[in-house]
Amino acid sequence: MKEKVDFDLDKRTWHPSPLLGQIVLVTTVNKDGSSNIAPKSWISMMVLKPPILALGCNLKHHTAQNILANREFVVNVPGVELTQTIWHSHKLPHPRPVEAVGLTPIPAVKVQPPRIDECKAHLECVFDQCVSYGDEVILLGQIVAVSVDKSICDAAADVYAQMRMVCFLENATYGIIEYANRLETANT
Ligand SMILES: Cc1cc2nc3c(=O)[nH]c(=O)nc-3n(C[C@H](O)[C@H](O)[C@H](O)COP(=O)(O)O)c2cc1C
Repeated sequence: MKEKVDFDLDKRTWHPSPLLGQIVLVTTVNKDGSSNIAPKSWISMMVLKPPILALGCNLKHHTAQNILANREFVVNVPGVELTQTIWHSHKLPHPRPVEAVGLTPIPAVKVQPPRIDECKAHLECVFDQCVSYGDEVILLGQIVAVSVDKSICDAAADVYAQMRMVCFLENATYGIIEYANRLETANT
């Protein structure tokens, strides 16, 4: 048996972190109709039918408050080239519309919050239900529209090498999906 090291239960102390979270930029709409942008990484697909994703968020955050107020959000998927913008953006004061972080809002297909043009893919969601733990909340959203850059879909080469998606590992540390491996027997 290999020797094991016991970690504290506080995720913030984990090094290396045994769990990773995809970094996304979530857009919502404020009461006055302006947009709000925030990076999030506690996010994952949860149910296939209906297509439900879960987003972990602090209840005090504008993102959670906007989703609970008007029930819509867009999960925008950035590539690694937006990493500096992402880390810069979460410290900017509110109001924090998409333009405030130097990115371009474009209309979504089915919901009011905008997509972000510079991102590679977009999942438009309608709030379904939530589970709260103190100051934190798990927001479950039903995906109602999905779009991906045509240039990526059309690429002859590895589409994941074009996406270059990023994941949060630990404080100020991220990983990059640089390429995809495919099993020889493609029946899984
Ligand atoms: C890479 C990255 C990932 C983050 N992930 C989350 C997350 O999953 N949940 C969360 O509540 N805050 C997360 N944060 C912190 C929020 O982005 C930050 O507190 C932000 O200011 C909240 O903005 P809002 O009030 O507009 O929602 C993350 C920050 C960074 C830089």
